[in-house]
Amino acid sequence: MSWQTINRNEPVVEAGTRPVLSEAVREKIRSFFPKYPTKRAVLLPALHIVQDAIGHISWQAMVEVADVLEIAPSDVFDTVSFYTHYWTKPRGRKMVLACRSISCELMGGRKVLEAVKKHLGIGEHETTPDGEFSLSTEECLAGCDHAPCLLINERMHRHVKPEDVPRLLDEAGCDRLDMPRSTLFDAPHESAAATVAVPTAEVEQPAEAEDADTGAGEPSGSDKTYTT
Ligand code: FES
Repeated sequence: MSWQTINRNEPVVEAGTRPVLSEAVREKIRSFFPKYPTKRAVLLPALHIVQDAIGHISWQAMVEVADVLEIAPSDVFDTVSFYTHYWTKPRGRKMVLACRSISCELMGGRKVLEAVKKHLGIGEHETTPDGEFSLSTEECLAGCDHAPCLLINERMHRHVKPEDVPRLLDEAGCDRLDMPRSTLFDAPHESAAATVAVPTAEVEQPAEAEDADTGAGEPSGSDKTYTT
């Protein structure tokens, strides 16, 4: 085994792939420019906006974000692959994050995770066939004194017991907080839908191509590769 040098500036998107970002989404990204010292510094907000717009950040979206920010696509990929909150493939409407840090681990977090897997029938970084749930683990969710914790979209569940998991996941509002929320990173969905009528499935790359071109395939459970 040896280290391999990979030219990550090479295109990873097939020629002819249609754009996925609407002009409204691009404009929303540009609206952050005055708030930051450089366009490059807008990368994290831009990725949040894109993920809000199309549900994940496809290879084509990375290229387009790079274009808007005038940076290399490989710089965008480096950032996307570093953070677990960015997904490069479609994910479920409800994102379940199970804490894997020490307090939750000591208080039974692993059994809670297993209960989630069993109830949903999926593993880490997988999505249920109906597109309702995706599952991932995360470092400390900042609820250590209420361990073990599960975060579902914006709602934190504390002191979770494995036997509570089925009821908790089946609850309609398990992922929502009944309170005002910021729209800072929300994409202009209506405009985006009107401008871009490209199903996201059309722009996904075959897994083999992704692996071959980037050296970092899709994350699969605890095997996720972080590229720096
Ligand atoms: S260790 Fe789980 S919330 Fe902090």
